[in-house]
Amino acid sequence: MEILNFSKKDFLFRSPRIIFGRGKISLLGEQSRYICEKDIKKELNAFLVTGKSSLKKSGNLEKILKNLNEANISVFIYDEIEGEPTTTVINYGKKLVIEQKSNIIIGIGGGSVMDSAKCISGLVTNDGIVEDYHVGRRSFDKVGLPLILAPTTSGTGSEVTNNGVVIDPTRGIKQSIRGDKMMAHVVILDPELVLSCPKKYTTFSGADALVQSIEAFVSKASNYLSDFFAIESIKLLLPSLPKVVNDLLNIELREKMMLGSFIDGLAFATSKLGAVHGFAHPIGVKHNINHGLVCGLLLPYVMEYNAELVYVQNKYAYIADIAVQSNIINEVDLKIKDCPDRIKDKAVWTIELIRKIFKHCEIPLHLKEIGITEDCIDDIVKDTKGSSLNNNPRDTDKESLKQILLNAL
Ligand SMILES: [Fe+2]
Repeated sequence: MEILNFSKKDFLFRSPRIIFGRGKISLLGEQSRYICEKDIKKELNAFLVTGKSSLKKSGNLEKILKNLNEANISVFIYDEIEGEPTTTVINYGKKLVIEQKSNIIIGIGGGSVMDSAKCISGLVTNDGIVEDYHVGRRSFDKVGLPLILAPTTSGTGSEVTNNGVVIDPTRGIKQSIRGDKMMAHVVILDPELVLSCPKKYTTFSGADALVQSIEAFVSKASNYLSDFFAIESIKLLLPSLPKVVNDLLNIELREKMMLGSFIDGLAFATSKLGAVHGFAHPIGVKHNINHGLVCGLLLPYVMEYNAELVYVQNKYAYIADIAVQSNIINEVDLKIKDCPDRIKDKAVWTIELIRKIFKHCEIPLHLKEIGITEDCIDDIVKDTKGSSLNNNPRDTDKESLKQILLNAL
């Protein structure tokens, strides 16, 4: 079946400089010099954004500091990123960058760290505080401070996107700061950095990546290029996720997850997402539940809703073919019957496959399991909006959104 749709060929593609490979974080000092100032004698002050402890525990922080030191780069460590970034963390980061006279930002960590680094980079060269730019109020006029990102989880695709999700606790909102001026200049994808990512976060971030690739694939704004990336990311992620959760030190699986997540970021950066991500923001901020967990839980229910459309059925059936060709059904005992032949049946089978994969990964299948009951639903639906929802392939309204969540209870 020909699935790439050449009639939808218009797109806007953005990408930083990308370096992929085992051990490539050793190029951090050299790349910092490359984007800032080649003169080795010139003083460079790096502002390193990272999480509270994971980089230290893994021993990678020591190696990174040594590498930067050898390139004559001094480092201020901003390790205040705990959970998803807040307005306070971003505004404080800007203040510190100015105080420290930092001239390059380096973000090494998961999606929250990379989102924080992008927002701080953009905010430092532009006036005001992050609230001025929140929810699309304004966009950055000037290009951010030179920025290098290196993910330590495989899931968000944040390293290649042009937005950062920020929570404003005072207004009770979780929304993006968005704009090409805050994109990374260099991305280092080193699968060895992900080896120490624990099972829980490997699962959640991997589920997020798979959800994003499927939402990008069927999005209203999907196009020739995003489909190309979405298909390749599904080919990498779908068979690797159920294996890597029980084989965390397998570098080949980690490579596939990292590449799949990165390519998925390229897909949804040009096609946007769908209703799963529309729900994920209000649920995340109101119930403080991990983003990847919420996304994995809700995906099958949103897929059921979207599968009424014939073009979505075709794409879900295409995912079934990817799964069969990958042999994942035999490699991991997912307890699913053989894939049927008819397109419509295949689409249903794909949804069941996704459920089985997430069950195998120990992601809850019902909202009640994560403490969300029927009386929470109206409040979630009220705040389910934004560009992700607008690009869901099948139109939604308050009633249909409510029904999807009732089905997921
Ligand atoms: Fe996501």
